[in-house]
Amino acid sequence: MPEAIEERTLRAADIILKEGLARLILLGNPSEIDRISNQLKLQHINKANVIDPIYHDRKSFYAGLFYELRKHKKITQEEAIEMVEDPLYLATLIIKNGDADGEVAGAMNATGDVLRPAFQIIKTTPEAKVVSGSFIMILKDKTFGDDGILFFADCAVNPVPTASELADIAIETAKTANALTGIDPKVAMLSFSTKGSAQHPVCSKIIEATRIAKDREPGLSIDGELQADAALVEKVGRSKAPGSPIAGKANVLIFPSLEAGNISYKLVQRLAGADAIGPVLQGLAAPINDLSRGCSVEDIVNLVAITANQANDNK
Ligand code: ACO
Repeated sequence: MPEAIEERTLRAADIILKEGLARLILLGNPSEIDRISNQLKLQHINKANVIDPIYHDRKSFYAGLFYELRKHKKITQEEAIEMVEDPLYLATLIIKNGDADGEVAGAMNATGDVLRPAFQIIKTTPEAKVVSGSFIMILKDKTFGDDGILFFADCAVNPVPTASELADIAIETAKTANALTGIDPKVAMLSFSTKGSAQHPVCSKIIEATRIAKDREPGLSIDGELQADAALVEKVGRSKAPGSPIAGKANVLIFPSLEAGNISYKLVQRLAGADAIGPVLQGLAAPINDLSRGCSVEDIVNLVAITANQANDNK
């Protein structure tokens, strides 16, 4: 946890250590961590391993590792030493070297700042072409999705995905949904058109993305292009997309752009009172997950539990 001088992060760490959800490495100034922990009367922080990013005995080792990984980008050794003082870079190097299994950050840093070091150091898995972010949406109304559980993506990373990237996002989200909840993924590729009801290049992109995903993963249950009501409501699905295996039954929603995905998850969270867990980053070679800066202590605990699960799966 590279944001260990942040109050919600320390409160979450205390709960995680108390409940034994994961072993933790806290990155931050040790006296600052002590001061906040004492102020908050936290009882379990002393079970964590604390690393001061500025003064620690592995600093030149990690700077050397960073230099080796990024020298083709023309960085100097001096720049490498400076970079590893940034806890977000140090965290990814610790993971790259196998000294930690995963990372959760974002309570005090913007998404782009959390993602950039992960992209540069950790990179994608051999199968994934692009990293994306999905949300587990837990709805009060259990008639939607799989007993009220839906996966939304991409809500975090790719502003304007290509058809090929959308196909990749669909495949990775189906995998995440199955790995984290055991549901049988039924993927809807969303648009403002259902089965040719509107004609526009952006709708054609969704049709193409659906074709590519089916090609790459023939066993995947996927259909598109579908409007959100056709994807989610049985009666509407039957009338707008008769014969579709997904219409009315979707539990994984793939949005055409980051704007659509990010706005949708926040609207469903705020207006329908859904729990939104994530974003769970998919396609990275190690589990690194990003929080919203508006996150609660519970959100951090949940995301650490998910990250620990992903790390176990990887092993
Ligand atoms: N998947 C995998 N790797 C990627 C991706 C991706 N989607 N995007 C960029 N990269 C890699 C590049 O290949 C490059 O690697 P290299 O340096 O080894 O060659 C590196 O990342 C940097 O690439 P840039 O193109 O320079 O990317 P940049 O740093 O400009 O942008 C970023 C990446 C920050 C993630 C950008 O896509 C972004 O800002 N996305 C939106 C994030 C956001 O604000 N989300 C909404 C909020 S999230 C929420 O509400 C929960």
